[in-house]
Amino acid sequence: MSTHGGSPLRVIVFGATGMVGAGALREALNAPEVGSVLSIGRQPCGVDHPKLRELLLPDLFDFAAVENQLVGYDACIWAVGISSVGLDEAAYSRVTEELTLVWARALLRLNPGLSFCYCSAAGAGGNSMWARVRQRVEGTLKSMPFRHAGAVRPGFIRPGPGIRSRTRLYQVGLVLLKPIFPLVSLLARVFPSLGTTSESLGRAMLRVVEGRADRFILESADINRVGA
Ligand SMILES: NC(=O)c1ccc[n+]([C@@H]2O[C@H](COP(=O)([O-])OP(=O)(O)OC[C@H]3O[C@@H](n4cnc5c(N)ncnc54)[C@H](OP(=O)(O)O)[C@@H]3O)[C@@H](O)[C@H]2O)c1
Repeated sequence: MSTHGGSPLRVIVFGATGMVGAGALREALNAPEVGSVLSIGRQPCGVDHPKLRELLLPDLFDFAAVENQLVGYDACIWAVGISSVGLDEAAYSRVTEELTLVWARALLRLNPGLSFCYCSAAGAGGNSMWARVRQRVEGTLKSMPFRHAGAVRPGFIRPGPGIRSRTRLYQVGLVLLKPIFPLVSLLARVFPSLGTTSESLGRAMLRVVEGRADRFILESADINRVGA
């Protein structure tokens, strides 16, 4: 079902080389209501699909020359992100806040009626530097006149088949945890606020931009419910 006038959704996905974006891309490509997907990133996402087109930009801040290719879209799923470890606020905000908002504003200008889903993180309501930056981004996006908008705040994410994190330390942790994934999955079913899967997260992000989420901020339990 499309909530954008009944025609197939045209979706832009950012961060498809990463764990969250790869999951969102997979769900978008599998969704019958999605007609086409444009993946925008610094390098190829490694997926070949008739619905998928890729736009590669070595520097994501530099897109003025390709604005004519960014028109005609219904929705944007934002899964670009970095770890705050070792970064000061200026460096962390540059990607987390500035890059996100520069694209959100440009895409909304080029596509009035656009919907937007932002991948934030569990704990974004807190007082640490990264949490304050995340909250600022969420607040700014909420105030913008998107058709539908929301922010997902995942905690632990169990990656689907073939999905890997681009963050080396995180990927090492996932490999080490793999033997206990069945236990983690069981715990997540009993305590849905603990975490989610890349499948549920991808579906929840899609449902946000389809106007099928019931709140702006989706914590893990909401992600599991909306993305079920
Ligand atoms: N994984 C988790 O468990 C988890 C949990 C909660 C929240 N999150 C949040 O979800 C978001 C995505 O996380 P992830 O796990 O998918 O991370 P990831 O696997 O490390 O992927 C990060 C993505 O962001 C892109 N990216 C990073 N810096 C960029 C830059 N300067 N310019 C352009 N692209 C850039 C990467 O592109 P390249 O391939 O070009 O580097 C990649 O596509 C992050 O905000 C993260 O904090 C993740």
